Amino acid sequence: MKGIVLAGGTGSRLLPITRGVSKQLLPVFDKPMVYYPLSLLMLAGVRDVLVITTPADAGAFARVLGDGAGWGLTVTYAVQPSPGGIAQALLVGEAFLDGDGCGLVLGDNLLYGQGLRTALRGAAATTSGAHIFGYPVSTPEHYGVLAFDGDRVVDVVEKPARPPSRLAVPGLYFFDGTAPARVRDQRPSARGELEITDLHRSYLRDGQLAVTHLGRGVAWLDMGTPENLLAAAGFVEAIQARQGLLISSPEEIAWRQGWIDDAALAAAAHAHAGTTYGALLGQLVEGAPDGGAGR
Ligand code: G1P
Repeated sequence: MKGIVLAGGTGSRLLPITRGVSKQLLPVFDKPMVYYPLSLLMLAGVRDVLVITTPADAGAFARVLGDGAGWGLTVTYAVQPSPGGIAQALLVGEAFLDGDGCGLVLGDNLLYGQGLRTALRGAAATTSGAHIFGYPVSTPEHYGVLAFDGDRVVDVVEKPARPPSRLAVPGLYFFDGTAPARVRDQRPSARGELEITDLHRSYLRDGQLAVTHLGRGVAWLDMGTPENLLAAAGFVEAIQARQGLLISSPEEIAWRQGWIDDAALAAAAHAHAGTTYGALLGQLVEGAPDGGAGR
């Protein structure tokens, strides 16, 4: 299973902040936004990652993420010449995928909570079909929304004026190797985009769409507006300060997955000397006993 982080788009809902900086590189408390979605792929067990950016921002992403080797990853880059919809990521990434399945995550999504790693690993085990998630929100009209007949998902609707349920679809999806071919058969929507919900529908029509409900114990935050960005930063700050554990640190995840060793984690702590981020990585290396709670 490979991974794609979609970090394109114009960030228009965050203007004027995004005039000079990519949305997905903005700070969310103590780290760049892209760390959060990248961490989700890592938790799912994905090590081969394509980051899709705009042509203008590619260099900045390469400075932040490099080739991924320090995190036990292989990170490569591609550009989306102009925003043509989320599903277009499967076409931009088609050569990278080379027939393999993938996890696709949107660069402005944060997920955090108990049991998430297990849910992600389960979804990443998808060898045929697609696996998406459902999450209750107060404003479903802003998202892709699940429609039900009893407990059965019967449709996925993009930003419906009258939502058929409160369950929105977070921007983290797992697809088998047929996804690029399916997208090639899609037509752009009324707003001129290749909609990710149309790809979900294609799998649903074939009886191949699995949906896992994320419970209220998981936090799903999007970070696409000034209010959401501030709320996400506040959330990260509050939890990290209380627990003394980092949310979505690629170094910590790589270390816990066994992809980097103690020496590499110590080097990362040293590289962030003088910051709380570095201090918290250092505590992991020292291994203050927590009875396994940090996992
Ligand atoms: C996109 C998708 C939508 C999904 C959302 C999750 O919307 O089109 O289906 O629910 O991401 O963040 P956007 O927020 O890019 O408009």
